[in-house]
Amino acid sequence: MELTDLDTPLRQQLFGPDFIWGVSTAAFQIEGSPDADGKGESVWDVFTAKKGKILNAAHARIACDFYNRYEEDIDLIKQLHIPNFRFSISWSRLLPNGIGKVNQAGIDYYNRVINYCIEKGVEPWVTVYHWDLPHVLEQKGGWTNRDVISWFSEFVTLCAQSFGDRVKHWMVMNEPVVFTGAGYFFGIHAPGRSGIRNFIPAIHHVVLSITAGAKILRKLLPEAQIGTTFSCSQITPATDKPRDVAAAVRADALINRLFIEPILGLGYPVKELPVLKTMQKYMLPGDEDNMRFDFDFIGIQNYTREIVKYSFFTPYINAKMVKAEDRKVDELTAMRWEVYPPSIYHMIKKFDAYPGIKSIIITENGAAFPDVVEEGKVNDPQRLRYLQNYIRQVLKAKNEGCKVNGYFVWTLTDNFEWAEGYHPRFGLIYVDHTTQQRIVKESGKWYAKFLSEKLSESEFSEFKDFQN
Ligand code: FCB
Repeated sequence: MELTDLDTPLRQQLFGPDFIWGVSTAAFQIEGSPDADGKGESVWDVFTAKKGKILNAAHARIACDFYNRYEEDIDLIKQLHIPNFRFSISWSRLLPNGIGKVNQAGIDYYNRVINYCIEKGVEPWVTVYHWDLPHVLEQKGGWTNRDVISWFSEFVTLCAQSFGDRVKHWMVMNEPVVFTGAGYFFGIHAPGRSGIRNFIPAIHHVVLSITAGAKILRKLLPEAQIGTTFSCSQITPATDKPRDVAAAVRADALINRLFIEPILGLGYPVKELPVLKTMQKYMLPGDEDNMRFDFDFIGIQNYTREIVKYSFFTPYINAKMVKAEDRKVDELTAMRWEVYPPSIYHMIKKFDAYPGIKSIIITENGAAFPDVVEEGKVNDPQRLRYLQNYIRQVLKAKNEGCKVNGYFVWTLTDNFEWAEGYHPRFGLIYVDHTTQQRIVKESGKWYAKFLSEKLSESEFSEFKDFQN
């Protein structure tokens, strides 16, 4: 393993003045207020209400109460010197029925959030879709119904028209392989459907929706920067036996290539994943062209790496991940993911090698650890080290000439982590989910110091004492 040089001082200046630094969130994970001011139900509202789906029966009806506390949280972003804030728009706040009648109160809410960011000098970065499909649309088949392309286009158009005068950076969707895989193949995320018959059409309609949405944004907002985000993990075969190596190639096609390649005009990785041949059933004339879009930037989101071995019993890919806890890994996060900083470097290299990608932004990276409050402080050396070591790897890739131009930490506040509920704490800011009290963790103070570097020691100690 390539070791990370802990002795090199990590200075923000090493990335150059134009490098974009930020923090990422998603509507469903922070907002709460699921039926405030005319909001409709999303698939996640419905899924979290079902028995046995979420760890400890957690729900997101309050989450971080960002819906009511956005000013306080944006103030914290400002105080931490974080210049860019990524958040997503809840489709069912704007369009409670998914399409049709617009809920002005939902638009007003995001206007308040965006205007407050701008007032504070924080640049808003908007993800149009971060997994919370309106439930009424799921009842019509959701992402498996081809009509979703026009439903989504209506939503994107409304976002562009409502917020495009102030929002200059857009991401069409978040991690398509995760929400289609977990939500339509494994059934462990909303809407909880499973099987290849749901997964395959969902993939294709998501690809077409990403590019349809991107085209709308570009047409309506020609000055804006248009991107979309993908999850990715370095994949390494468990051994050098040919069948493990081949299994790793298939896993890589599924985990890292399935969505980006059709969008770059390279088609689906059918050779490595023959099951994708059934996609033909859902393809219409013109789709090949419509699947392409020339994005201004690609967001890549990396947390860990995967070790893959051949598996006779795993249908479709005959490949299986060796769980990190079953390997001798140096460190595990609360998600039971291996801490492996070189993974982000390898993923930047991999995406950088596609000639069609103009610019890469790390739109998520971060880690959950079991934080505790002691004497009003949250000392989180593991997260601090994680962030520093991953950021160092980003720098390494940048210094080698990769077009990586930004980095966003996942995430601002400890929030609702999907099927894992509130157990994993990913925030730079600790949240007591009973009182909603926020405490900036030591990692958050470090990020602030890193971002502001000109801070004097006395200003830094003010951060140390900062508690809200
Ligand atoms: C990503 C998601 C994000 C968050 C992090 C931990 O897959 O985009 O919402 O859950 O993982």
